[in-house]
Amino acid sequence: MQLFIDSADTAELREAAASAMIDGVTTNPTLIAKSGRKMKEAIAEICSIIPGPVSAEAVATDVDGMLAEGRYLARIASNVVVKLPLTENGLRACRVLADEGIRVNVTLCFSAVQALLAAKAGAYFISPFIGRLDDKKLNGMDLIREIRKIYDNYGFATNILAASIRSADHVKEAALAGSDCATLPPKVFAALYKHELTDAGIAAFLKDWASTGQSIL
Ligand code: E4P
Repeated sequence: MQLFIDSADTAELREAAASAMIDGVTTNPTLIAKSGRKMKEAIAEICSIIPGPVSAEAVATDVDGMLAEGRYLARIASNVVVKLPLTENGLRACRVLADEGIRVNVTLCFSAVQALLAAKAGAYFISPFIGRLDDKKLNGMDLIREIRKIYDNYGFATNILAASIRSADHVKEAALAGSDCATLPPKVFAALYKHELTDAGIAAFLKDWASTGQSIL
């Protein structure tokens, strides 16, 4: 499973990149606003930190605007993936950009039929938003399972990118459901390393080791 970081904060991204675990990055207009950076310079820097796919989101809502913004964003770096919303216009623009060889991440997906349409429009990634469905007392993970089944039934190559991930358990469930990728806030990525028994085990081993008076080197 590929792990992406959901952030536009380049300090956070450099820190995550040092783990050698990170395969890509997702951003959205909220994250760019939070970074306080200009879109072009932020995306260019992120693309230089992480060589994998970096999603940069268009904000136009009409097809021509999405195409213009998508082409502009795609020119920033060869690893930019253009993010478009799952609307009728978004999928029309997706088809055009995909036919031009530009990879598109179709975002804000909340149903399996939306994901079916995105695959038919040539999306490279589909981003189902798990946490936001859970917030509505729905089961976000069921959506990943449904999309996996539909894509496998018909051999769609669109990659499932589990988004709006809120916990390490979400990552586990998405992996079990066969999601190709998951995009995680930095805090959730850091939590993947953690287990209380690991910490307790290290403490016990170090205590016993200290009692030997030895040193390895
Ligand atoms: C992914 O592409 C989105 O930017 C992100 O996962 C949204 O997460 P949120 O619902 O926590 O804002």
